[in-house]
Amino acid sequence: MKLIFIGPPGSGKGTQAKHLERSRELIQLSTGDMLRATVASGSELGQQVKTIMESGELVSDDIMVSMIASRIAEPDCSGGFILDGFPRTVAQAAALDKMLAQQHTQIDGAIQFAVDPAVLIKRISGRFSCSNCGEGYHDEFKQPKQPGVCDICGATEFKRRADDNSDAVKTRLQAYEKQTAPLLPYYQYKGVLCKIDAMAEIDAVAAQVEKALDAIATQKA
Ligand code: AP5
Repeated sequence: MKLIFIGPPGSGKGTQAKHLERSRELIQLSTGDMLRATVASGSELGQQVKTIMESGELVSDDIMVSMIASRIAEPDCSGGFILDGFPRTVAQAAALDKMLAQQHTQIDGAIQFAVDPAVLIKRISGRFSCSNCGEGYHDEFKQPKQPGVCDICGATEFKRRADDNSDAVKTRLQAYEKQTAPLLPYYQYKGVLCKIDAMAEIDAVAAQVEKALDAIATQKA
């Protein structure tokens, strides 16, 4: 199954993609994580995108399209994937359609994480993740079961993101409204858009996503 997660920063896309990796053996393709790995590598491209990401603006379509084109061509993606953070512009969506058509396939579902913008700052400012496996946590909403120890891999180091500060978050929210929200009518028109109430608690959102995937699988069969 080939899925897209669409929602503003902090709406829970990464949290639910990680859940589905475990429950459905789908691969999470997070462009944010790929870009952060590129920055950490210290490459020339990493230095270019670091400043853009820290400001909260979007990285150029050319860079993002070539990053995803090479990733989805890898053998581990043949069984299906979740695009978490891509496409983020209509130009990226059109490029994705084209690359999938070349593989004689298409997107099965686009899941919209609908959320009241008022909760996003609180979600983002409390976020931290495991430095080893990337599992996401929150100071209030999702703490590790044993304080200071990752539930998934047992690591004890955690990190916070450089772009989770109020100025960058404001720019990220504006970028979502202006450049990414137009993808909703794009996928609605294609008949693959499915809206989830992302204001619910994490487990309740997971149940809605699972139900949506069951409906997509039935439609596909
Ligand atoms: P990216 O890393 O993709 O960030 P984002 O889209 O801003 O999304 P987030 O990761 O902030 O939020 P999320 O929805 O995954 O929320 P999460 O599950 O963590 O992109 C970063 C940057 O990279 C961009 O700004 C841009 O510069 C660049 N970039 C990436 N892709 C690009 C592209 N295609 N084109 C151009 N540029 C690109 O949840 C947040 C917190 O809330 C967590 O702590 C979690 O525990 C908690 N939480 C989750 N769900 C709930 C719930 N239901 N109730 C309560 N708490 C919850």
